Amino acid sequence: MTQLSTRPLATAAPGPTGRLRALLTMSGDPMDYFTGLRDQYGPVVRVPLGMRDMFLVSDPEAVHEVLVTSHRHFTKATMGAGRGTWEAPLSVIFGNSLITSDGEFHRKQRRLIQPMFHHERIAGYGRAFAELSDDIQAGWKDGDRLDLSVEMTELTLAVVARTIFDVSLDSDVAQTVRTAIPRDEGPMRWDSLPFARYLAKLPLPGNKRFFAGRDRLDAIVYRLMAERRQGDGQGADLLSMLLAARDADTGEPMDDRQVRDEAISMLMVGHETTANALTWSYHLLGNHPEARERMHEEIDEVLGDRLPTIADLPRLTWTDAVFSEAMRLYPPIMGMARRSLEDFELHGYRIPKDSFVGIVPWVLHRDSQWWPQPERFAPQRWLKDPRPADAADELTGHAVAPGRPRLAYLPFGGGPRQCIGTAFARMEGVMALATLGRDWEFEPVPGFTVDHLARITVRPRHGLPVTARRR
Ligand code: HEM
Repeated sequence: MTQLSTRPLATAAPGPTGRLRALLTMSGDPMDYFTGLRDQYGPVVRVPLGMRDMFLVSDPEAVHEVLVTSHRHFTKATMGAGRGTWEAPLSVIFGNSLITSDGEFHRKQRRLIQPMFHHERIAGYGRAFAELSDDIQAGWKDGDRLDLSVEMTELTLAVVARTIFDVSLDSDVAQTVRTAIPRDEGPMRWDSLPFARYLAKLPLPGNKRFFAGRDRLDAIVYRLMAERRQGDGQGADLLSMLLAARDADTGEPMDDRQVRDEAISMLMVGHETTANALTWSYHLLGNHPEARERMHEEIDEVLGDRLPTIADLPRLTWTDAVFSEAMRLYPPIMGMARRSLEDFELHGYRIPKDSFVGIVPWVLHRDSQWWPQPERFAPQRWLKDPRPADAADELTGHAVAPGRPRLAYLPFGGGPRQCIGTAFARMEGVMALATLGRDWEFEPVPGFTVDHLARITVRPRHGLPVTARRR
C-alpha cells in the first residue's frame, strides 16, 4: 500500500450502507446528498455506489493529493468496459481525446495541444468573444422575455464554432450540435450510471438519435478538415492548429481520427460549461441588485460605449469577481471522477484498488471551513485591491488571501488534468458579461423558482427566464 499520509494506520472510511439506497438518493439531488454525507461523515466518505465503492473526497489537501501529488496512482478511466479493459463512458462522443484518454497517450496529446491555449493565443480570440456577444444581443428588444440559459448556450456555441472551426451559428456544425446531439437522452444521460456503456448500446430511440447526430457531426468535421488541407495551413482556428501540430519528439502529426476526437471534445465541453457559468452569473446578479449595479458602474467607467478588448480585463475586477463567485456557488461541472490503480492511503483512510474517487466542487465550495458565510453571493471575496468602503465586510479579499488551500476552489479541476480551457473560458465569460452589461440588465421573473439540475454539468433545471431591460 502506498503510504502518503502522516497518519500511522489507515482505517476504513466511514459512510452509509445500502447500495441501492445510495444510488436512488443520489439520483434525486446529488449535490444535497454529497453535502449531507460530508457533513455527517467527514472529509473522506465511503459511498456504496453500484458495483464498486466511491470515496467522496472533500478536503482540499486530500483533493490535492489525488489530483496533483499522487495523480499517477489514479486514472480517469472509471467505468468497466468488459474483458479487463476500461473505457470512459463519454468516449461515445469524445472518442480518445484529451478528456477521455489517460497515461502516456494523454501526456503526449496534452503537450501537443497546450500551446494552442497559451495566453497569447487566446488573446487573439478576444475580438471574437466581444463581437459574438454583441451579435447575440442584436436581436433583443426592451421588455423581451428571454431564457438566458438558451441565449448563453447560443453565445458560447457561437464562440466555439468560430474559434475551433471558423464557422458561424448558421453553419451545419452549430445546427447539428443544437439539434442532433440530445443531452437529456441517450448515452450522455447515462454517463454517471453503472453499466452506462451497455445502456448506450440498446436500440432505444434516444440512443439512435444520438448516434445519428454524432455521425452527422463527424461527417461535417471530416469535410472541414479536408477543406483546411486545401488551404495554406495558416488558419488561426483550432482545427487548423490541430492539423498543423507536430509531436516534439517524432515530428508526427495527429491522424484524422485524433484531430476529430480533439476538435469535437472541445466543441462539446467548451460551450455548455461556459454557458452555465454565465447563466448562473445572471441568476445571482438578478437577485443581488447592489452587485449588479456595481458591475454596470464598472463597465460604464471602463468601456463607455465601446466593445471590450483584452487590454480592459485587468480593470474589470468586479465583473471578474462576479464570474468567479458564480462558479463558486454553481460550479459548471458536477464533479471529477477517478479510479484508484492500487491500494492507497488517503488522509488516513484506506482506498482499495479499483475504487472510484469522487471530488465534487459544490461540496468544497460551500464548506464554511474554507468559505465564511458560504451561501452568500459576495464577489468582494475575490478583490485583490478593494475599495476603502469594502473594508467593513469581513469577506473582502478572503478568497485571494495568502495561505488559503488552493483547491478549496476548483471549478476547473487541478493538476495535470486541469481544464486546458481555463484561461479561454475566464476571458470569454468576463468579456461576455462586460459586452452585454453595457446595454442590458435582466430582471428575474417574479414567482419563478430557479432550481439546479446536476448531471455531468450543473445547470438551471428549467432554464433562466428573465425580462431584458435596455439600460
Ligand atoms: C467555465 C467553463 C469551463 C469549466 C467550468 C470547465 C471545467 C473543466 C474541468 C473541471 C475539467 C477537469 C475534469 C477532470 O479533471 O476530470 C476540464 C477539463 C477539460 N476542459 Fe474544461 N471547463 C470549461 C471550459 C472549457 C473550454 C472553453 C474548453 C475548450 C475550448 C475546455 C476544454 C477542456 C478539455 C480539453 C479538458 C480535458 C483536459 C485534460 O484532461 O487534459 N473547457 N474542464
